[in-house]
Amino acid sequence: MPWTRRHLLTIEELNLHEIEQIHTTATAFKKILGRSVKKVPALRGKTIVNLFLEPSTRTRMAFDMAAKRLSADVIAFDAASSSTTKGETLRDTAENIRALGADMIVIRHAAAGSPLYLSRLLDIPIINAGDGAHEHPTQGLLDTFTMIEHLGSLRGRKIVILGDILFSRVARSNIHALTKLGAAVTLVGPSTLVPEWFTALGVKVSHDLRSALADAEVVMLLRIQHERQSSGHFPSLGEYTSMFGLNKTRAGWLNPKAIIMHPGPINRGVEIDSELADGPRSVILEQVTNGIAVRMAVLYLCSGGQPEHVMPAE
Ligand code: CP
Repeated sequence: MPWTRRHLLTIEELNLHEIEQIHTTATAFKKILGRSVKKVPALRGKTIVNLFLEPSTRTRMAFDMAAKRLSADVIAFDAASSSTTKGETLRDTAENIRALGADMIVIRHAAAGSPLYLSRLLDIPIINAGDGAHEHPTQGLLDTFTMIEHLGSLRGRKIVILGDILFSRVARSNIHALTKLGAAVTLVGPSTLVPEWFTALGVKVSHDLRSALADAEVVMLLRIQHERQSSGHFPSLGEYTSMFGLNKTRAGWLNPKAIIMHPGPINRGVEIDSELADGPRSVILEQVTNGIAVRMAVLYLCSGGQPEHVMPAE
């Protein structure tokens, strides 16, 4: 079946075949990134605007590099010096960017649903780079891509997501991707941050770190999202760390071959100790690197490309 989507708004709306198409296309682009000439002409003549209205290091730079590797022209929107500071609305900002000739907008915004809103306003592809606590689809796609590189098929694999699930768009996108790929997902953390109603998404919920980590093949840490929490969900960071922080002793409960993941940014010494974040089981920087190939795949497919037309390196 050909790729038909123009926008990437959520993983929830993707089916298994579409997730696999993105992964297959990313695999081909990753081979191209390993060549001495890392660039292909797939999006030559197209202009992509990175409309980031929330801070970002990894996602913004990976989208920027992905677009450049595809030979697109890239414009980084500078929120701090833009007319949004004078009260210009998201709608007016986006319509002006379109009037200036953008062929695609990659948006990060604190408001859940803002990528969907733009997709209904504009006649160009809209890519969600994180909308509030809703979804971060390219993060979920690069995380599952990285897991598959290490484990092969995720069907039946025990994956633990540990931390602030309630406010995490990364958790939601990973839950949708992992359950579609057949993984056995357990969410762990304090009950205030990991409420029981998440089980409606086809995952287990646990507040017992030891039993949740037992034999897990992947543990993904999430940081505490202070910027989205309006009231205290635990007494103090120190108490959170003492109960749920991943340290060497607790990592010993995992499957001996388990990998340790984190979407970043890391709060060292809070959700994860440095010796684990920098240790041999950590694939945190591989996640970042894979973000380029996965985002190349998303930009390419949503611009009308087809997976089978990507030519891998000789
Ligand atoms: N993982 C992630 O979204 O990181 P940034 O906020 O730095 O983009």
